[in-house]
Amino acid sequence: MKILVTGGAGYIGSHVVLELLAQGHEVIIIDNFSNSSEIALKHIEKLSEKSINYIYGDYGDENLLSNIFNCNKIDAVMHFAGFKSVSESQTKVLNYYLNNVASTLTLLHKMKLHNVRRFIFSSSATVYGIPKRVPISETAEVGGTTNPYGTSKYIIEQILNDLGQANDFDIVILRYFNPVGAHPSGLIGESPKGAPNNLVPYLLDVAAGIRDQLYIYGNDYPTRDGTGVRDFIHIMDLAAGHVRSLDFLQTNTGVHCFNLGTGKGYSVLELITTFEKLTNIKIAHSYTERRPGDIAECWADPTNANRLLKWTAEKTLQDMLNDAWRWKNNFPNGYF
Ligand code: NAD
Ligand code: UD1
Repeated sequence: MKILVTGGAGYIGSHVVLELLAQGHEVIIIDNFSNSSEIALKHIEKLSEKSINYIYGDYGDENLLSNIFNCNKIDAVMHFAGFKSVSESQTKVLNYYLNNVASTLTLLHKMKLHNVRRFIFSSSATVYGIPKRVPISETAEVGGTTNPYGTSKYIIEQILNDLGQANDFDIVILRYFNPVGAHPSGLIGESPKGAPNNLVPYLLDVAAGIRDQLYIYGNDYPTRDGTGVRDFIHIMDLAAGHVRSLDFLQTNTGVHCFNLGTGKGYSVLELITTFEKLTNIKIAHSYTERRPGDIAECWADPTNANRLLKWTAEKTLQDMLNDAWRWKNNFPNGYF
């Protein structure tokens, strides 16, 4: 199939593109490198031994999209492009809604005009807000989001549900839990611009001597050791989930929503200890106040993805941290 991948140079998109190429799909990437680098694409080419068809540009650019859809028979769109920082979304509110919501509407509109029905969307467990219970299943209440980033994902999900009801599109919404790790080659991985916000990129900076210590946001949560518990999922497992979603859309219509998680939660302290055992590197850390908006614990019920997508996360926390560390050693400052 010929797949248009928005944000294909980014962390998740680059790993998915590699999987798509490995499965024999043809890929066209559109990316403006606002949070990524062309080097990721060079590394995909090296790993896949295929040349990449990519367009430098904004996925919300109507003319660019018309050109792409006019010149190519696109079978499906995988939509990764967007802004993803919770904290930044609270100060750059309009930028977030424009880039995440308004541009997605433009993209969907162009798809409709060109009769492209299949759409796979990167959503997030953040749409569950503060979950009433764990593990979280797809039927749990959504919408209790506390920041514009999360709300942008929630709004798009609502739009996609409406489109599905109107029988205009066939859609898979994927709610990611906490993607971490890197391709086992160590050639592609997460490359945040500026100081990292998320746990594993920050921990890697400390391990590499780039930052002095890791600040643990709170040790008084009602969890087994007081620190937050999350469902960390290896980026390669996440990537495989996208390819399975594409297969699923070959035989299923309408809108479907799946959690992509392992079904297991690890605490911040457990993750640190696992990393220390694997690498023999001590991670200096101290406790600080809870981060506003954080929840105590969050892990997925992945039963639906297991059953319907025939997908299961296979890699362990050790795999995630080993692969992340290999990537960090190869590219201590990412691509920048
Ligand atoms: P990323 O920032 O690494 O990748 C996004 C890519 O989109 C980047 O290459 C960026 O340059 C590109 N981009 C942004 N705006 C664009 C625009 N207007 N036009 C063209 N390209 C544009 O992020 P990621 O971690 O790969 O996340 C991919 C998607 O998954 C995002 O929608 C994100 O919200 C969602 N998601 C990510 C996580 C996570 O932990 N990484 C968790 C849940 C959901
Ligand atoms: C965050 C986002 C979420 C997004 C997800 C993936 C917030 C509030 N949530 O999830 O919307 O979908 O990333 O991009 O930003 N931690 C520390 N010290 C750190 C960093 C994190 O103790 O320096 C703790 C956090 O308090 C949390 C855990 O580590 O308990 C995981 O944090 P993080 O990696 O930022 O992911 P989430 O907050 O789960």
